Amino acid sequence: MDQHFPEHFLWGGATAANQCEGAWNEDGKGVSTADLMTAGTRTKPRAFTPEAQDGAYYPSHEAIDHYHRYEEDIALFAEMGFKVYRMSIAWTRIFPNGDDLIPNRAGVEHYKNVFECCKKYGVEPLVTLSHYEMPFHLVKAYNGWASRKTIDCFVKYCETVFSEYRGLVKYYLTFNEINVLSTPFGGIMAGGIMPKPEMLELNLHGAGSLPDDANVRFNALHHQFLASAKAVQIAHAVDPSIKIGCMIAGMALYPYSPDPKDVLAAQQNTQAGNYLCGDVMVRGEYPTFARRLFEKQGVTIEWEKGDAETLKNGKVDFYSFSYYASGCVSTDPETIRTSGNFLFGVKNPHLRESDWGWTIDADGLRYYLNELYGRYGVPLMVVENGLGAADTVEADGSIHDPYRIAYLKAHIEAMREAIADGVDLMGYTPWGCIDLISASTGEMKKRYGFVYVDKNNDGSGTLSRSRKDSFYWYQKCIESNGSDI
Ligand code: BG6
Repeated sequence: MDQHFPEHFLWGGATAANQCEGAWNEDGKGVSTADLMTAGTRTKPRAFTPEAQDGAYYPSHEAIDHYHRYEEDIALFAEMGFKVYRMSIAWTRIFPNGDDLIPNRAGVEHYKNVFECCKKYGVEPLVTLSHYEMPFHLVKAYNGWASRKTIDCFVKYCETVFSEYRGLVKYYLTFNEINVLSTPFGGIMAGGIMPKPEMLELNLHGAGSLPDDANVRFNALHHQFLASAKAVQIAHAVDPSIKIGCMIAGMALYPYSPDPKDVLAAQQNTQAGNYLCGDVMVRGEYPTFARRLFEKQGVTIEWEKGDAETLKNGKVDFYSFSYYASGCVSTDPETIRTSGNFLFGVKNPHLRESDWGWTIDADGLRYYLNELYGRYGVPLMVVENGLGAADTVEADGSIHDPYRIAYLKAHIEAMREAIADGVDLMGYTPWGCIDLISASTGEMKKRYGFVYVDKNNDGSGTLSRSRKDSFYWYQKCIESNGSDI
């Protein structure tokens, strides 16, 4: 092991407001899109209900109550040695409706307290401005990101956040997994676009075949690109030392076979699913392949004067991404029939899967890091990674999770190799450092944490926190800067 992590490598963990905070209607918070999503399971999709329904269970409403327990949680993160805590701000706490004239002071103060708490423990916050939620009022009034009006609302929100938290927050990300909006699944979750009745169920596995309006969706994505570019410029104007990144759902896609048709298809899927967003946000312009991609889907981006300059002047400082699994691309109908219809493409016969069907592929992370750094040459950060698994609490209260440790260890080794390959990697914030609500299924049972939270799928539980074996393992990892794993 001769390669080391850089001296100031940002070790930490990641969460998102709607998956951990709870307190969904406290202290003036408005209703967000995430507050209207019911719980599901691996096989039963979550549903989006345009109104909160009596008797339905909405996991975001209480989540793990991080809103009231952030101090205890941040203390636990600090005990593990976190240098950085990736979290998101709920837009609806700052502007409950999204288009309010003045910010909600209680919301502003809440995050100020959270950041002060991070400071007290020597943990740097890394703040996602929009993580799979937006004020529901903006959806009703303007159809979310389908409207340019939402850009102005977001800009105002960003101005407020950057100036209120000046000196407290150095690192920001604009839109979580922005490229999810290039798929039909992203419509409501990532774009706040009111779903058609047939799309109210967030069926990950069938997303590709669901009806939606690609033209509306890609124009909404264009609006997010503009909003992100504006946010970058505002952040730099407020405080030139702020570093602000994009956040992409990392997709390492392999051709299923050496058939050149599979190779081409994998390349095209990578371009469409991955590079489209990265190119716009890092390079400041749409890639040349976008023209044909849009033509094929009947998409016409409605450009307005000044858009191209906005994108050019709002390039991000670094590229961050989530990485959980890799996938394969096949053009053979028989392969698609037998191992297709999978979130990340066709199943790879060489890889094992998690209990939720996600392939486990640490080499894919090294491959992906090299691909990205070769393409963009900007610092990279892995801001989500991890294994969603059910845990067992032993009679003495201990939680043994060697499967999680093995997963993380392999991925940390892959990052170390990528650094040895020459990749500039800033940091690593594994997902759900404390157990929280799963985004795809709405479950508690799908746990990622180093910290266990006593809460069940049906909402029962004491919400008490306890340390898993992985907690002590990660503590050692950070202490040794990644050499003792
Ligand atoms: C990412 C999201 O897609 O994956 C997170 O940014 C999410 O919000 C994470 O929780 C893990 O996915 P899941 O469905 O297992 O929670």
